Amino acid sequence: MLKKICATTAVVATVLAGGSACSSNVKNEERGASQITSSYSGVPDSFKKHMQRLAIVQDASGVSIDAQLFALKGANSLNKGIEKFALKALKDGGAFNGKKAFQPIATPESEQADLDSFISEPGASTATPTATSDAASADITLNDEIVFAGGKYVVTRATAEVNGEPSVKLFVTDVEADETFPASKLFAGEEPPSDDDLADLSYGSNALPSYQGAEKSIDELSDLGKDVTKSGSEDPVDPTANNAHATGFSCALAPCVAITYDDGPGGGDLTDKLIKTFKKHDAHATFFVIGKNVKEYPKEVKAMVDAGHEVGNHSYTHAQLNTLTEPGVEKEIKDTDKAIENAGVDKPTLLRPPYGASNRAVDDAAKTTGKHVIMWDVDTLDWKTRSTPKTVSAVKANARPGAIILMHSIHKPTVDAADTILTYLKKEGYSMVTISDLYKGSTFKTGKEYFCKGYATALCSSPEHPYVTKDS
Ligand code: NI
Repeated sequence: MLKKICATTAVVATVLAGGSACSSNVKNEERGASQITSSYSGVPDSFKKHMQRLAIVQDASGVSIDAQLFALKGANSLNKGIEKFALKALKDGGAFNGKKAFQPIATPESEQADLDSFISEPGASTATPTATSDAASADITLNDEIVFAGGKYVVTRATAEVNGEPSVKLFVTDVEADETFPASKLFAGEEPPSDDDLADLSYGSNALPSYQGAEKSIDELSDLGKDVTKSGSEDPVDPTANNAHATGFSCALAPCVAITYDDGPGGGDLTDKLIKTFKKHDAHATFFVIGKNVKEYPKEVKAMVDAGHEVGNHSYTHAQLNTLTEPGVEKEIKDTDKAIENAGVDKPTLLRPPYGASNRAVDDAAKTTGKHVIMWDVDTLDWKTRSTPKTVSAVKANARPGAIILMHSIHKPTVDAADTILTYLKKEGYSMVTISDLYKGSTFKTGKEYFCKGYATALCSSPEHPYVTKDS
């Protein structure tokens, strides 16, 4: 790679044309010694592990979609910008099907574009989609690609074509600060270029940007633009550093499932095994823990959260809460909260009543204690079958975007099923997220019951039906 050969420092008039890997800087000679640039050799392979692929290639209610997108895990400001652009294109193209929200569709990994197709090589400009598999036949095509990545900066282009109408948006992201700006901010002058002007933006091997076929000099760049150019020869910053829970796209665009495990922690190595398996698949779960078990195994609960998982309240004694008075329910909840906090974990915001047994008193107690009541729509019956293959089959048969899957972390056959389940879900194109991530960006109220998300069943929450309360 050129990266390490060309230092960030000024390589100026003394560089001979064609004489070194930094020969591209010879252009600076023509502009004078004050023209400080650096070199740029593209996005290193190591950066790809931070990228999340997402494809939507199925017909949704007669609308043909060919979306091939990437998000950068940990760069939430960029992901939100791309997601907003993509959701607008999907809505304009009719993919919302008259609903207020897009219902994501799971697309198998085999139909997703290669990671390489999301990366623009230095000097290669593309104003038209490059990652698409069958653009000509789709009503909506969507793509994005990295134009530049060096130091703490990433420059990204997103393109859409909706019924023949193209649109383009360019972003510059400071990955360290997780801030994203329009790419027009890269340039000096009173009238910054528009996104359309920048449609073919590219960075050459001298780390200077070009658009509309013309290369810009360092004097034409803003301070931000100069900073980006200077960082060309640096390895890109890891956007997921210090964040065990770095996410990519939200569940507004990505097909998500929330896997939940009840009744732990259980001692032995079951929790540890689950944590390792989920890490292997870059997946996250929610553990609804029983207060008295937390008191016995506090380290397991801390380990769950440290690994990026979510912990919810499953009562203190596994009581059937709808048989208790409201103060009785509150005591079960509060004692469990206390045990969880004593384990060094933040007070949970989620409650799963044992047996899914709720009533008004349970919901009211949940509201008083600041809890969302989380039910499920996929019951694996793992506690009953105690069978790894049957637990796997139950997930395969019932998983769909927005599902909340119920399992129990205290049974070995269930823990043994996790690797196969996660392999399957990932291959099908799902993101496995915590409950709070599943509902991020949606109406999510304490004291209300949630069974699933989307439009799959009447019990799912959607912008039209933000929550469902049983018995009401
Ligand atoms: Ni339970």
